[in-house]
Amino acid sequence: MQVVILGGGGFIGLRLAKKLLEDGRLNLGEITQLTLVDIAFPEDAPKDPRLEYIKADFSDEATIRKVLQKQPGLIFHLAAIVSGEAEKNLDLGMRINFHASLQLLELCRTLAFHPRIVFASSVAVFGGDVAKVILDETGAKPRSSYGTQKAMVELLINDYSRRGFIDGRSLRLPTITVRPGKPNAATSSFVSAIIREPLNGKATTYPVPSETEVWIQSPKRVIQNFIHAANIDEKILGDDRVINLAGLTTTIQEMIHSLDRITSPEVTRLISYEPDEFLQSIVLTWPPNFDPRRANTLGFVRDSSSEEIIRSYMEEEGIMNAFNK
Ligand SMILES: NC(=O)c1ccc[n+]([C@@H]2O[C@H](COP(=O)([O-])OP(=O)(O)OC[C@H]3O[C@@H](n4cnc5c(N)ncnc54)[C@H](O)[C@@H]3O)[C@@H](O)[C@H]2O)c1
Repeated sequence: MQVVILGGGGFIGLRLAKKLLEDGRLNLGEITQLTLVDIAFPEDAPKDPRLEYIKADFSDEATIRKVLQKQPGLIFHLAAIVSGEAEKNLDLGMRINFHASLQLLELCRTLAFHPRIVFASSVAVFGGDVAKVILDETGAKPRSSYGTQKAMVELLINDYSRRGFIDGRSLRLPTITVRPGKPNAATSSFVSAIIREPLNGKATTYPVPSETEVWIQSPKRVIQNFIHAANIDEKILGDDRVINLAGLTTTIQEMIHSLDRITSPEVTRLISYEPDEFLQSIVLTWPPNFDPRRANTLGFVRDSSSEEIIRSYMEEEGIMNAFNK
């Protein structure tokens, strides 16, 4: 089977690609070729005879036509302009997050087969009353352009699946933490930075009060969840293809305390509060409390504590031994 990852050069995309190659197969069949589409790939991107890299803009119709000619049984759609950038640049966010996704679905509509599509949606489809517990039935009411663009694509994925053009599923992702590397343009970038930067000996700040609750998931769990989503039979999902993942609710304070327990006060001393109005105007509208019954029933996985998430990041980065705890 041919598998495609749009946005395959990104943080989640590359990790997903590695795991898919390692596993070699999905419920839909053996992975014979894995095509990654992205505008940029890192120099150390993996090498594998089954891997194909297409360096292109996925909003380009000819690129998507070429990709669909390969008759992919499965497409992971992860390409996006992330939250902060989509809020600052409405034209760019609409063009990539909405119009290019619509074009993808329209081109799928013309196919003789209906590919399975796993779409990366977000907690940002919700906004407003953060005290409310989000149920599977809670309606999307985004308070950002990024969240609105994601919600519109979710609706189309539901409708195009109902009509049999595609077999879609949209995962509403928590903030994926700890993201290695450099800070990015996501408004939630600080959630990873407060762990990653001090571990690298660098000072960092968080823009919201420390008691702010956040809804997070580790890279390891989200990759397992993307693969699980790709493996679920469409008959089990029915008409509603949207799934709130089972994230972990924690606070900035609790994350810093966990880091303190694992490392030392010298590390956490590098973290400080620096309010940022723009970031607060978005992040403080994201609800942190979910009752994700459907995700639990369908067998999606979750993390058990922020300490576990931090330890797993440190083990991955090979820095656990620097701290004897
Ligand atoms: N990481 C998170 O915390 C998080 C949370 C919620 C939702 N999501 C969603 O998950 C997906 C993956 O997130 P990520 O953290 O890996 O982000 P990322 O920015 O690392 O990856 C997105 C990739 O899309 C690519 N891309 C952007 N525009 C493109 C275009 N026009 N054509 C081709 N490629 C393009 C980027 O180059 C990038 O490599 C995104 O859709 C994001 O909105 C992520």
